[in-house]
Amino acid sequence: MQLTPVLSAAWDEADAFTLAGYERHDGYQALRSALTRHPDEIVQVVKDSGLRGRGGAGFPTGMKWGFIPQGDGKPHYLVVNADESEPGTCKDIPLMMANPHVLVEGVVIASYAIRCNHAFIYVRGEVVHVIRRVQAAVAEAYAAGYLGTDILGSGYDLEVTVHAGAGAYICGEETALLDSLEGLRGQPRLRPPFPAIAGLYACPTVVNNVESIASVPAIVRGGADWFKGMGTEKSPGFTLYSLSGHVTRPGQYEAPLGVTLRELLELSGGVREGHELKFWTPGGSSTPLLTAEHLDVPLDYEAVGAAGSMLGTKALQVFDETTCVVRAVLRWTEFYKHESCGKCTPCREGTYWLVQILDRLERGEGTEADLDTLLDLCDNILGRAFCALGDGATSPITSSIQYFRDEYVAHVTGGGCPFDPVASTVFAGAHA
Ligand SMILES: Cc1cc2nc3c(=O)[nH]c(=O)nc-3n(C[C@H](O)[C@H](O)[C@H](O)COP(=O)(O)O)c2cc1C
Ligand code: SF4
Repeated sequence: MQLTPVLSAAWDEADAFTLAGYERHDGYQALRSALTRHPDEIVQVVKDSGLRGRGGAGFPTGMKWGFIPQGDGKPHYLVVNADESEPGTCKDIPLMMANPHVLVEGVVIASYAIRCNHAFIYVRGEVVHVIRRVQAAVAEAYAAGYLGTDILGSGYDLEVTVHAGAGAYICGEETALLDSLEGLRGQPRLRPPFPAIAGLYACPTVVNNVESIASVPAIVRGGADWFKGMGTEKSPGFTLYSLSGHVTRPGQYEAPLGVTLRELLELSGGVREGHELKFWTPGGSSTPLLTAEHLDVPLDYEAVGAAGSMLGTKALQVFDETTCVVRAVLRWTEFYKHESCGKCTPCREGTYWLVQILDRLERGEGTEADLDTLLDLCDNILGRAFCALGDGATSPITSSIQYFRDEYVAHVTGGGCPFDPVASTVFAGAHA
């Protein structure tokens, strides 16, 4: 399996983030071509390419654009979801740091296609350096005539606002993001109506992930068939896989959809020396854990689903045998408890109790009955929570009990955690 660097092709170049660096690699050529074509043609190319949203759910991007009613006389909005906050997920932030212009170009093309004259990029509030970089790229694009009025003499106008969130995971949920953007407290909205009908300021709105929009210029340039030449039939194209944790060379690996973790580990130097794979997440902490038996599962939407998990954000967090699964799951659950927005009872109360129980298990004060209580709580959250944050909070718990029940029981019978917490750190053995 070969890597297919498209988005990341020029990341190693010192000026990749500047307009000059981007233009040296065909930057804004796709925009020039798009502006000579009818907007519907652009929607069709993206539909034909089979591009699926990279924010987690894998919804077809062209189809989403096609839902925007045309000729309705209302303003249309494009909102780029750059809130990236899920544990393990770390692709949009490096992408915006290394090549913010590919995002800006994608924003102009997507906005043109859906007939939008004001687009927003909602960036996670904590990453101030990334916000500055995106702001600088937007300013360069305005100065070069790629944004503003009468873009490249086409008659098409677009304003772009870069908005900094206040730093809440829930504001990555698209409807909470829209409330936050409107100045309200970020909490999910009831659907329907869906954002395509009544989104930002109650107008038709497309919300897309950074990587989804950044993939558009290459698709417009290369064509749908070129894009479909990579990946699998139902999950075409290239994508960023983010390897983290106990791997020799963690980082971003851009590969065709359908690559396996085994292949990605070969490319990244494998699990850290002297250790073996214990468990991993295919797409961030909200996707059920997988184990070494899943090393050859093709990392596309269908195959990962069939293996009992989800491709999610393709954040491959790798854990070796030194990791206590109870402790790892406790950490994630603490995150969900902290980030629960409090709107609905199953998630607000449930995540609190999940932490209490996992914490006492890890401290050796739990009982075997606690395992059933954990599963019962998860059963009462999954499918009953108002948004996917609650559902996601249950994934690490149910999947870890499925694969590592004995390890949970060992915490009960052994009166505490059998693992040395230092052994799983990067500095383990440094002072031996
Ligand atoms: C709790 C929660 C957090 C989310 N965070 C993000 C995020 O940071 N970035 C993102 O693109 N999508 C996030 N999503 C998914 C969005 O709701 C939405 O599906 C996505 O932005 C759509 O873009 P796409 O179709 O391009 O994937 C989150 C969803 C939930 C439930
Ligand atoms: S599931 Fe959690 S985050 Fe989502 S609305 Fe309910 S309380 Fe808020």
